[in-house]
Amino acid sequence: MATLWTCVFVLFNCYVFSVSDEVETTISPDTPRIPFTCVIGAGYSGLAVARYMKELGVNFRVFEASGNFGGQWRFDPKVGNDEYGVPIFTSTYKNLRTNTPRQTMEYSGFPFPDSTPTYPTNTCFYKYLKSFVKQFQLLDNIQMHSYVRSVKWAKNHWDFTYTKSDEGKNYTIPCDFVVIANGQYVATKMPKVPGQNVFKGKIMHSHDYKGPDAFVGKKVLLVGAGASGLDLATHLSNVTEKLVHSHHLNYNQPDFPKTYIKKPDMKTFLPNGVVFQDGTMEEVDVVICCTGYEYSHPFLDKSAGLTASGKFVLPLHQHIVNIRHPSMTFIGMARVIINRVLDAQAEYIARLIAGMFKLPSQEEMLKIWLQHVYTLQDMNKKIVDVNIVGDQMDQYFANLTQEAGVSRAPPVLTEIRDFNAKYRLVDLLNYRDYEYELTDPFHYRKWYNGGGTKGSQCPIDIERK
Ligand SMILES: Cc1cc2nc3c(=O)[nH]c(=O)nc-3n(C[C@H](O)[C@H](O)[C@H](O)COP(=O)(O)OP(=O)(O)OC[C@H]3O[C@@H](n4cnc5c(N)ncnc54)[C@H](O)[C@@H]3O)c2cc1C
Ligand SMILES: *[C@@H]1O[C@H](CO)[C@@H](O)[C@H](O)[C@H]1NC(C)=O
Ligand SMILES: *[C@@H]1O[C@H](CO)[C@@H](O)[C@H](O)[C@H]1NC(C)=O
Ligand SMILES: *[C@@H]1O[C@H](CO)[C@@H](O)[C@H](O)[C@H]1NC(C)=O
Repeated sequence: MATLWTCVFVLFNCYVFSVSDEVETTISPDTPRIPFTCVIGAGYSGLAVARYMKELGVNFRVFEASGNFGGQWRFDPKVGNDEYGVPIFTSTYKNLRTNTPRQTMEYSGFPFPDSTPTYPTNTCFYKYLKSFVKQFQLLDNIQMHSYVRSVKWAKNHWDFTYTKSDEGKNYTIPCDFVVIANGQYVATKMPKVPGQNVFKGKIMHSHDYKGPDAFVGKKVLLVGAGASGLDLATHLSNVTEKLVHSHHLNYNQPDFPKTYIKKPDMKTFLPNGVVFQDGTMEEVDVVICCTGYEYSHPFLDKSAGLTASGKFVLPLHQHIVNIRHPSMTFIGMARVIINRVLDAQAEYIARLIAGMFKLPSQEEMLKIWLQHVYTLQDMNKKIVDVNIVGDQMDQYFANLTQEAGVSRAPPVLTEIRDFNAKYRLVDLLNYRDYEYELTDPFHYRKWYNGGGTKGSQCPIDIERK
């Protein structure tokens, strides 16, 4: 821990040294040329910023690696790479329903139709994104099959290099502003357990799970009880020959079928199965690691001046603005938040680029950031937690509104998030059978909807105007 803080101190020194050394020219360009903004990724976040930039008349283009917008919410039956060799970033699977109330996920001023289930399916959420793209006419601003490879600072602009995968060509273009919205679930984390090479079965990550069909009648081991682990447990327990679930979550485990076996953490692989920490062994055919994801920004060049890891990027003002080069911004680096935060960050960025508010000086932003870091330290937290917003979420919304005039998110969303997170672990099989409604920005009501197939309905008309 001591070394981590020393490290921040070292960074502090070098930032102070170099910010006062360098002049940013792109934030207030003297040149008459219209500044051009390049956005990486056309998922929920990239679309959000595109909407606000369009509304504010910003000159921009969104560069999307795949052939479609929608990011995590678009189901793709392929595993690995697409037809042009570009990684498939989407992790969604058949029968997925949101694990959070849609009210926490809606774009500001663009609600789902009232009769939409509170926990819509992934296909319904994708339909919602389609109707959003249509409503704000964003399609012409999205350049598909454009896989961003590197973003380098070049004195007064960014050199932005991408592979146009369907042409097999690389392009480098100048961008005055860069918005990084490449997603939070990019790199998969795999557990390190001895003996993986002797295991004769299949080991995969939940990122490549597409639906239950491939696991019918199989002996399956699920590793982990995060959002994916719990969800797959409910999807697979009724179709597998047996479902072994290795995790250490303390929750109200539902009545799974008798073929469901709870186990502690893994100890070692055998050719035909796995030994667990309690010394017991289970034969399995396939292991699905629901062990989560990390941030990944392989395109970030050193010249961006940031320290990026799987859990944080620093130093960022408001978890958004690269303090070293304020013409580079991020959506989605704040952790333990709801999707509405991504929308608020998008509005902040569009307003920044449109010149609707001014950032503090770089020195001032660094001071504010360091104050945040010292507060973390006082709370006995580590530097890896630097981007956690968590229980400060409503204050964070308020801060974005205060600094940038971002439309204020209803404070009750934090309460809804917290209730949902708890209740999910109390009634895993039925927590989605409730409908929620905001009665005003501070209150909501919820009621049981009777369960059944109600959750699969999706009353979205993509043609709506
Ligand atoms: C399985 C799963 C279920 C989830 N369920 C929920 C839920 O129920 N509720 C909730 O609130 N959140 C959920 N999430 C979180 C989800 O990530 C957010 O809801 C939201 O999709 C984030 O949007 P995004 O645009 O930031 O990222 P993404 O949706 O991941 O979009 C990123 C986009 O960037 C593109 N891209 C990536 N790298 C590059 C590159 N180098 N060049 C060009 N383009 C690139 C990708 O192709 C993608 O289109 C879930 C996530 C997963 C993985
Ligand atoms: C494009 O750039 C990528 C990444 O740097 C490289 O691997 C690839 O070979 C390049 N392709 C062409 C056609 O130059
Ligand atoms: C498994 O199927 C039974 C009978 O259809 C059902 O009652 C139960 O809820 C299912 N369990 C899960 C975890 O889905
Ligand atoms: C909100 O702003 C105040 C004042 O700058 C700051 O102390 C606080 O850490 C910020 N809170 C969040 C969650 O960003």
